[in-house]
Amino acid sequence: MIGRLVVVGLGLIGGSFAKGVRESGLCGEVVGLDLDPQSRKLAVELGVVDRCEEDLAAACQGADVIQLAVPILAMEKLLGMLARLDLGDAILTDVGSAKGNVVRAAREVLAPRQLLNFVPGHPIAGSEQSGVEASNAELFRRHKVILTPLDETSPRALSVVDALWRALGADVEHMAIERHDEVLAATSHLPHLLAFGLVDSLAKRNENLDIFRYAAGGFRDFTRIAGSDPVMWHDIFLANRDAVLRTLDTFRSDLDVLREAVAAGDGHHMLGVFTRARVAREHFGKILARRAYMDKRAVKGLNFLAQPGGRLSGSVRMPGDKSISHRSIMLGSLAQGMTEVEGFLEGEDALATLQAFRDMGVVIEGPHHGRLVIHGVGLHGLQPAPGPLYVGNSGTSMRLLAGLLAAQRFDSQLTGDASLSRRPMSRVTAPLQAMGARIEAGADGLPPLTLQGGQRLRAIDYTLPMASAQVKSSLLLAGLYAEGETRVTEPAPTRDHTERMLQGFGYPVAVQGATVALASGHGLAATRIEVPGDISSAAFFLVAASIAEGSDLVLEHVGINPTRTGVIDILKLMGADISLHNLREVGGEPVADLQVRSAVLKGIEIPEALVPLAIDEFPVLFVAAACAQGRTVLRGAQELRVKESDRIQVMADGLSALGVTCQPTEDGIIIDGGALRGGEIQAHGDHRIAMAFSVAALRASGPVRILDCANVATSFPNFLALCGQVGIRVTEEGKS
Ligand code: S3P
Repeated sequence: MIGRLVVVGLGLIGGSFAKGVRESGLCGEVVGLDLDPQSRKLAVELGVVDRCEEDLAAACQGADVIQLAVPILAMEKLLGMLARLDLGDAILTDVGSAKGNVVRAAREVLAPRQLLNFVPGHPIAGSEQSGVEASNAELFRRHKVILTPLDETSPRALSVVDALWRALGADVEHMAIERHDEVLAATSHLPHLLAFGLVDSLAKRNENLDIFRYAAGGFRDFTRIAGSDPVMWHDIFLANRDAVLRTLDTFRSDLDVLREAVAAGDGHHMLGVFTRARVAREHFGKILARRAYMDKRAVKGLNFLAQPGGRLSGSVRMPGDKSISHRSIMLGSLAQGMTEVEGFLEGEDALATLQAFRDMGVVIEGPHHGRLVIHGVGLHGLQPAPGPLYVGNSGTSMRLLAGLLAAQRFDSQLTGDASLSRRPMSRVTAPLQAMGARIEAGADGLPPLTLQGGQRLRAIDYTLPMASAQVKSSLLLAGLYAEGETRVTEPAPTRDHTERMLQGFGYPVAVQGATVALASGHGLAATRIEVPGDISSAAFFLVAASIAEGSDLVLEHVGINPTRTGVIDILKLMGADISLHNLREVGGEPVADLQVRSAVLKGIEIPEALVPLAIDEFPVLFVAAACAQGRTVLRGAQELRVKESDRIQVMADGLSALGVTCQPTEDGIIIDGGALRGGEIQAHGDHRIAMAFSVAALRASGPVRILDCANVATSFPNFLALCGQVGIRVTEEGKS
């Protein structure tokens, strides 16, 4: 692709770049230059470069790309020397870890034509080793390289440098110069300054360094980077002074506030800082772990492998109900006082809601084994989040939060993952706009949502065009703030957890037939919430034990709210053997232990009235239908097409792949029960599709491989473990 690359400065970074490009075969010749004769000699011997030069002008002759990999403070002088040479159209790029100062120097000395060819860059990679002998062609693989082009940088120069880094396996990003310097000051330079500063502060007061004999892992981990190269860091703080000072000042003021909290014994403030920090650190840990995992396995997604056959037995507890978990965070945050939650679902969706409220300043302790303590801030106590609220795969988070945020004093933005970004939001934005909310969505009413704060909302009397608990709940949350009485009428009953829980928090809600009404002007009082097991998760095992001959299974403590039990009714109509024991009520929600034994299922016409009451359970109900005798017909379920995937089409494709005769229709499906064979299924990142086909394998004649299953963690993080416990043989592919 290019004729000649010149690398000036053959240290670890320059040497690794030279070696990587040389090995990539993208370049005719790689020429090295270094002040140290030993490095020049080694560079050739180790195959880092094709040849070395002593003199800059000689080295740069005929160069297509010149990479400047000298210490950051030497960059200015080097640019001055290059400016005096005729470099033709050679592209100049560098690896300096601060960009503002390099660009300033370049603007002072380079001619306009040379500036067109200048592409400032910074690879975020390194190692404890240094020198050309540590050169490693793989050093940048899966590491970030940030390019900070100038306004005048030519697209050609930018794309050549971009392509060279990508050829080394780097993950290249383009960024504004100032942003780069701020980000690096915060994530790299400040921590180094603090580590150097802390170790010195302790050391100089303890001359014989005796104190370090008492230091343990915490000290070691915090101060490891104080062992870095002092000269290099001295250079970096000189080079990136302004950005470092800005981030240091912000940190100092936060530290002062923390100091005050310690002095005043303000445990609430400390808990806020520590719980938020812990989550942020865990998030960072996951990013690192994912990177390591990807490095190791180079896999794109997570696949399940389900073995055919098996029978279910035992007694297991289902994870907490997802809908109730979301609402416990929301209402607990809006209440006055401390709400304790037990049985919270620690799945990605509910955790996304939890994080959103932490981002809005709510102190939440936990989750620890499903226990949370939420320090409610009251209806008017939320604070603006520092950035967009990212809710991942969770439609419930986005739609319910839309109603709540539309009514706040501050602006907010809601974003989600690729699947959520394809799901319709106008069903909530339209009625909220009718209440006076100002919300902008992306093209076709899809996420992200931008909500303008400070609007006075007016109550509306709204009849839902579709049976949706998310829309109903979104409007009720907005109604907590709207002038007048908000009334929502639904075309068919949908889950009523919001209404029940509001009442549990002491908020007056009137339910008359299909209409729910509430007026603003009241408050929520903290309470205790016990989240029952999720019937939507139990559904997989209800079907599994029904279709696997010889099964007898108990599912403990499952929520049986009548707006959720459609799956039990439908399975019973099909002939399932399900009995309810130990019926009780916890925290305003009915709960029971469910016993299920295998049974011969028969196909049915599913009553349309049951559709909203089993809306999340259809993927696995389709599996039941495929194992039943005769034909099952579903109608009136067009909502399934706009769930985490188009569940009608994706299930039809999967069932067909297993040899089942089925016919998707616009609002449902027709399935003829029969034999299932093994095969490969695409789950399209939809958790419930992945779990449904894990269950289908029980009746397949061969293994079922299910692709793209990582999102099972959104609703059922311990699914595979529970499967193993009861006798469903499904594992993550590649693990036993
Ligand atoms: C939910 C409502 C349902 C359901 C979703 C959770 C809720 O969505 O599918 O998993 O918690 O309110 P719709 O309101 O779109 O039917």
